[in-house]
Amino acid sequence: MPDLKIIPLTKEIGAEVRGVDLSKALGETVFPTLYQAWLDHQVLLFRDQSLTDPQMIAFSQRFGNLDLAPIPGHGRAFVEGLLEMFVISNVIEDGHNIGSLGDGECLWHTDMAWTPKPAKASCLFALEVPEAQGDTGFLNMYAAYETLPQDLRAQIEGRTIKHDTQYTLDGLDRSGGPPLTEAKASGSFDVAAIPGVSHPIVRTHPETGRKALYIGRRQNTYVNGLPVSESEALLDALWAHADERGRRTLHHRWRVGDLMIWDNRCVMHRRDAFSPDVRRVMHRTQIQSDLAPV
Ligand code: SIN
Repeated sequence: MPDLKIIPLTKEIGAEVRGVDLSKALGETVFPTLYQAWLDHQVLLFRDQSLTDPQMIAFSQRFGNLDLAPIPGHGRAFVEGLLEMFVISNVIEDGHNIGSLGDGECLWHTDMAWTPKPAKASCLFALEVPEAQGDTGFLNMYAAYETLPQDLRAQIEGRTIKHDTQYTLDGLDRSGGPPLTEAKASGSFDVAAIPGVSHPIVRTHPETGRKALYIGRRQNTYVNGLPVSESEALLDALWAHADERGRRTLHHRWRVGDLMIWDNRCVMHRRDAFSPDVRRVMHRTQIQSDLAPV
């Protein structure tokens, strides 16, 4: 592998891989090297790639089986015939958004933490990107755990967080009920009572054996077993710590042809808002959980 180079992007997270063409089948010695680099750096960046959707799917499948993308409101797959392909975009065509997430800020989160078996990894490929906008940030949750003050570590020991399954990040009710704003305005909203899926706050990575902080997203999470006010205070403290680290970690400015793949078991990510007047089109695959069936 004379051309393969792995170059760390920051001290804490991310590495750029050079000398690999992902459109070609990777040799049996190349992939284990990439996989180990991915476990070591949590996020890999490959620049200047030229990939068809089937080639991106084939590369993603080296990391595990893929989740199917949700079917958008108009009832057709994001990419006809390729049910594994998600599209993240603000572009409207024929009256429909061709992708999801629009142009707004996406706050720090872990993909699918609200499901019993959250995705192992996510892979994003840049097809059209605005100049110097819509950067994506990545946060090393091993480091977030390892640098937690001792009192916070003691407070989360053995505890679980309930991750809201009822509302999307946009506050829409997944089963078609009134939105979160209305539920909150009604005065009857109780974060401890809404339906959710619980996971340990400290997650041991199944492959590296390292411990990572696992907090999903801030909206409507609840630390099981605590009065709501104590749960909110503990979550605020954990998020303040994670957010502070996040402000000085990897924020990637996309170029067309960039592909990034990150490990949801030990990474949170976020995205900057960008102007509604520019186009951003990203294709995305999601690698299924490697947790035992529940
Ligand atoms: C996301 O997966 O949250 C969005 C990432 C991005 O659009 O850069």
